[in-house]
Amino acid sequence: MAADAEILFSPFTLGDLRLPNRIVMAPLTRSRARKGALAPTALNAEYYRQRASAGFIVSEASQISQEGQGYVSTPGIYSEAQVEGWRKVADAVHGEGGLIFIQLWHVGRVSHVSLQPSGGAPVSSSAIAARAETFVEGGRAPVSTPRALETAEIGRVVEDYRRAAENAKRAGVDGVEIHGANGYLIDQFLKNGVNRRTDEYGGSVENRLRFPLAVVDAVLGVWDRRRVGMRLSPVSPANDATDSAPEKVFFPLVEALGARGLAYIHVIEGATGGPRDVAPFDFLKLRKSFSGAYVANNAYTRALAVEALAAGRADLIAFGRPFISNPDLVERLREDAPLNAPDPDTFYGGDAEGYTDYPALSDA
Ligand code: FNR
Repeated sequence: MAADAEILFSPFTLGDLRLPNRIVMAPLTRSRARKGALAPTALNAEYYRQRASAGFIVSEASQISQEGQGYVSTPGIYSEAQVEGWRKVADAVHGEGGLIFIQLWHVGRVSHVSLQPSGGAPVSSSAIAARAETFVEGGRAPVSTPRALETAEIGRVVEDYRRAAENAKRAGVDGVEIHGANGYLIDQFLKNGVNRRTDEYGGSVENRLRFPLAVVDAVLGVWDRRRVGMRLSPVSPANDATDSAPEKVFFPLVEALGARGLAYIHVIEGATGGPRDVAPFDFLKLRKSFSGAYVANNAYTRALAVEALAAGRADLIAFGRPFISNPDLVERLREDAPLNAPDPDTFYGGDAEGYTDYPALSDA
């Protein structure tokens, strides 16, 4: 191992948790929850168990309510069966000495009427359809046109987050990550390309931060701040969510998160899964505006990760696609061994194929 790569394998204190290395498993939707109950299964637990050598794992996004679901077969965290399923996942990861946070998700307008309670319209900040697709029973479909949440309804959605946070705690995971990225509900309030509200949840930066911070405060009513992180994608155009001046909203947001003592922000630098330089944005300044840990993500390689850590641009590096195809990613990065290539055809849905059958080095 090259001496300078040591930094990837140095321990890190995240909140009150001691991480064995700087390598985070990024949240990855795999759409393999049990049909009907949308609860994690023994197969899901095995998948996470295989990847438990990560510094910590952020689970695939888990919807906080049926309304918060946007894709078929994604796991929820709002029913007892789902809590039981997540407990199996947490136990499997803990059995290997690993750590796992659940990512709390409400997709907002990135949904389809066939997934919504009583076949109704999905909800969002404003009644503007995203130019985006989702997966429903039977295949891809354009997302449905949403309705704008009534002002008086927002407290109910915040309460759904709070209950989900409580459920995550009962499931025995180590913490929660609030999904504020990728054009889902929280991002739909943050970004002015989507949020056209005229009430106290839209317009000014202060107003656009109101719902996201209400969610954070609700979660902090359940979890110690040292066990809470938030994911953000300031310039990612994912799911058609853009802002005309992202630094104006994201710098005050992370300052507010820092004031609340959140353990970390998890930042997708650039377009999610795409180019890192889609729009000018000072990620180093964002890092410096926040008092907790900075988890960097997006198209990191071993070399880029070492460079970012060594230069002090990040505390931890999250890897997404490499973790899909390399259960022993930490070991492979340590050995500088070749990586298995991920197969996009098996990313979403299906069974063990392309899920738990990627080989570890020790299998060779
Ligand atoms: C993702 N990504 C993602 N992000 C997130 O916040 N919650 C999620 O559930 C998912 N699901 C998901 C599924 C699949 C199959 C992919 C490929 C990606 C985004 C992911 O966490 C990460 O930001 C990107 O993959 C970029 O990182 P890498 O893959 O370049 O390391």
